[in-house]
Amino acid sequence: MSVHVARATIHCAGEIWTPYRNGASVRLSTYKSAAMLVDDHGVISEIGESAEIFKKHPSAKRIDHGSAIIIPGFVDGHLHCPQLDVIGSGGYRLLDWLDQYVFPAEAAFKDADVARRGARRLTRELVRHGITTAAAFSSVHAHAADLLFDSFDRSGLRLVAGKTSMDIGAPKDVLEPVAQDIESQENLIAKWHGRDGRLFYAITPRFALSCSPAMMKALQALREKHGSCYVQTHISENINEVNDVLAVWKGFRDYLAVYEDHGLLGSKTLLAHGIYLTESELTRVAASGTSIVHCPTSNTFLGSGLFNLNRATTAGAKVCLASDIGAGTGLSPWQTMLECYKVQALQGASVSADELLYRATLAGAEALSLDVKTGSLEVGKYADFVVVRPDKNELLGERLAVTKSSSERLFACIAYGDDRIVDSVYVAGKRLNDSVAWNDLA
Ligand code: GUN
Ligand code: ZN
Repeated sequence: MSVHVARATIHCAGEIWTPYRNGASVRLSTYKSAAMLVDDHGVISEIGESAEIFKKHPSAKRIDHGSAIIIPGFVDGHLHCPQLDVIGSGGYRLLDWLDQYVFPAEAAFKDADVARRGARRLTRELVRHGITTAAAFSSVHAHAADLLFDSFDRSGLRLVAGKTSMDIGAPKDVLEPVAQDIESQENLIAKWHGRDGRLFYAITPRFALSCSPAMMKALQALREKHGSCYVQTHISENINEVNDVLAVWKGFRDYLAVYEDHGLLGSKTLLAHGIYLTESELTRVAASGTSIVHCPTSNTFLGSGLFNLNRATTAGAKVCLASDIGAGTGLSPWQTMLECYKVQALQGASVSADELLYRATLAGAEALSLDVKTGSLEVGKYADFVVVRPDKNELLGERLAVTKSSSERLFACIAYGDDRIVDSVYVAGKRLNDSVAWNDLA
């Protein structure tokens, strides 16, 4: 990416924290009295000590964020737009929970006004939580996916999304026959895929229990035709689900093979959950470059099980974090990181704060093959960042006063943090908080 510093802006803050990948290893880079020079294309052209950057660029515009901490924009690798109002619907495990709450909520998106309002509300909430890139499922309805893209287009956020494909296993009002589904997807791909280098289409089979063999074959053909599109789906989240899949998809070696044998794996494929993947499945996930999206608040809320991060990464799989709302209990990446910590702690492992931030930012960008553009604060990447003000939460502000390192401060933010401390959110150097994209909510 070339650097244009002509009308650059310097953002300065108390600290900048960013994951930084060096070959196979990732560490947290921290800068004190820090500054970031952002060029007029929204690309980071320098990062370091503010005094030095001021000296080199005395006439550049300055935005002073005071003692705040700048971190990369969060990446939410898996969520469901039509499920905002499903959050906190308890009492059932996965398959019954889908029947009781999810399918009725998604059916409501048949109404374009409901779908428009849902898309705007999601956009508003993502910005409030500092999520600058999201991978989202829309409902089965093509107009709902279209409205989701439209809302993200207007807001400036980065989005990978698709209409959910499902032709069996649910009430009629959330099903779509194969031919109509493929036609809808062709239209969405033509209209949105690659728009502005920010919006991308994902072929989105809900999961193996929602798609007939004919649907899977049609999605395979669509994937072959549109090789640059993403694929997102669910896998091995719940024991009953796994058993049902093995019973329905007889002749397939295992759950993964249903997707694998239909050509749906690869470096642009996101598999949510993967709690019960076997060693063989994990090895094949890793070999194909497919990513696993771990959704810890969803897994604990639905009682789905404990994902073993160490086992997945040891097998070589890429793993990032996500909210999975409405099974997940909120969009807050702080909450998601904390739950990830707890899920691993329950299995005897200890995830560092530095790794948690990596899993919620750069790992998500890597899973989406967007890490050349976003996910960390480095020269040449877009300035997608969050200005964090821990003292907006009084107790957290006081707690930080007794910390000795950036990692300790980061851990305190993960444990105590919420949307109050997310002060401003930027994508490609542009502040999004005041966007009109969601101000015209009907
Ligand atoms: N499996 C299939 N559909 C869904 C969904 O909407 N949420 C979750 N958590 N799992 C699923
Ligand atoms: Zn999900």
